[in-house]
Amino acid sequence: MARYGSKALAQELRARLRVPVVVGPMFLVSGPELVIGCSRAGVIGSFPTLNARTTGILDTWLSEIRTALAQAPSAAPYAANLIVHSSNARLMDDVDLVVHHKVEIVIASVGNPASVIPAIKGYGGIVFSDVASIKHAQRAAEAGVDGLILLCAGSGGNTGWLNPFGFLAEVRAFFDGPVVLAGAISNGHLVNAAEKAGADFAYMGTSFIATHESMASAEYQQMLLESNADDVKLTTEVTGIPSNMLRKSLERVGFKPDKAHADAGFSIERELQAFKAWKDIWSAGHGVGGVQNIESTADLVERLRKEYLMGPPSEIR
Ligand SMILES: Cc1cc2nc3c(=O)[nH]c(=O)nc-3n(C[C@H](O)[C@H](O)[C@H](O)COP(=O)(O)O)c2cc1C
Repeated sequence: MARYGSKALAQELRARLRVPVVVGPMFLVSGPELVIGCSRAGVIGSFPTLNARTTGILDTWLSEIRTALAQAPSAAPYAANLIVHSSNARLMDDVDLVVHHKVEIVIASVGNPASVIPAIKGYGGIVFSDVASIKHAQRAAEAGVDGLILLCAGSGGNTGWLNPFGFLAEVRAFFDGPVVLAGAISNGHLVNAAEKAGADFAYMGTSFIATHESMASAEYQQMLLESNADDVKLTTEVTGIPSNMLRKSLERVGFKPDKAHADAGFSIERELQAFKAWKDIWSAGHGVGGVQNIESTADLVERLRKEYLMGPPSEIR
C-alpha cells in the first residue's frame, strides 16, 4: 500500500505548540478573538471563513489576526476553515483571500479538498482535511493533503461515527503525516492518551465554546455546564448530515423531527437556512461533561498543559 504524508511536518508543528492541541473551527462560535487567544496561548486556533458573513468582513478578520499575532513572535500557527462542499458558492472568493493573506494552515471540511490544494500549496500553505471514513481519508491522502483530522464518534458539530482506535490504526497504515484526533477529548490527560494511541494532535471543540473569547451566548455556555454525555443527541435533522446537538436546546425550541430534511443531505444553503437552527439549537460533543467552568482561553490551555504533562488518565487514579 502506498504511504503518504510527512512525519517531519508533524514534528515541526508540534515543536511550535505548548500542548498538542488544534482547536476545531466552530460555526457561530469561533472568530478572531478565540483564534488569537488560542495562538497566543500556544495551541492552533481556527475559525470557519463563513463565520465572517461577507468576504469584506473576512478580509478584515484575517488582517486583524495577522496584526495581533505578528506582535507575539512565539504564537502558534492558526488555521482558516473552508467548507469545500460543491454547494459553497463563496468558496473560491474565500480561497483568494486565504491566498492573499498567506494563511499558514487551511482546514478543508465537508467534501473533497482537491480543488483547493494547488492554491494553498502555491504559497507554501499547509492543508488539513477532516474525514469521517477510511475511504475519505485515503482520497484526501491521495489528493495530497498534509494532515488528516479524524472525526470520530462523539465529536461536536457535524460528527464522525467510527471508533477512534479502529480509525487511527487503519489510517496509520498508509499515512505518516500529522494526524489530529477528534471526538470528546475534553482534558489534557485525554490529549496525552490520544498521542499514545497514535495521533499527533488532539482536536478540541466543545471545551473551547466555554471560554470568554468564544462568540457563544451566556445561555449556551450555561447549558454546557448543566449537560453531560447523556444530553447529547445525534441527529441528521438539523444540518442534513449527522450532528451532535444538546438535547435540552432541541427541547427548548420544540424542535420537531423532519424526515424530509434529514434525507435531503448536506448543502450549504440548507446549512445557512439552518443558521437560525444553529443559533437556537446548540451543539456539543460527548466530552461536554468535562466543561466545569467558563474561563479564559489562556487559563484553559494552561490547565490542558498541566494535565497533559501529568500523563494519561491512568496516571491520576
Ligand atoms: C458548535 C459547533 C460548531 C462547529 N462548526 C464547525 C464548522 O463550521 N466547521 C468544521 O469543520 N467543524 C465544525 N465543528 C466541529 C469542530 O471543529 C470539531 O470537529 C469538534 O468540535 C471536535 O469534537 P469535540 O467538540 O468533541 O471536541 C463544530 C463543532 C461545534 C461544537
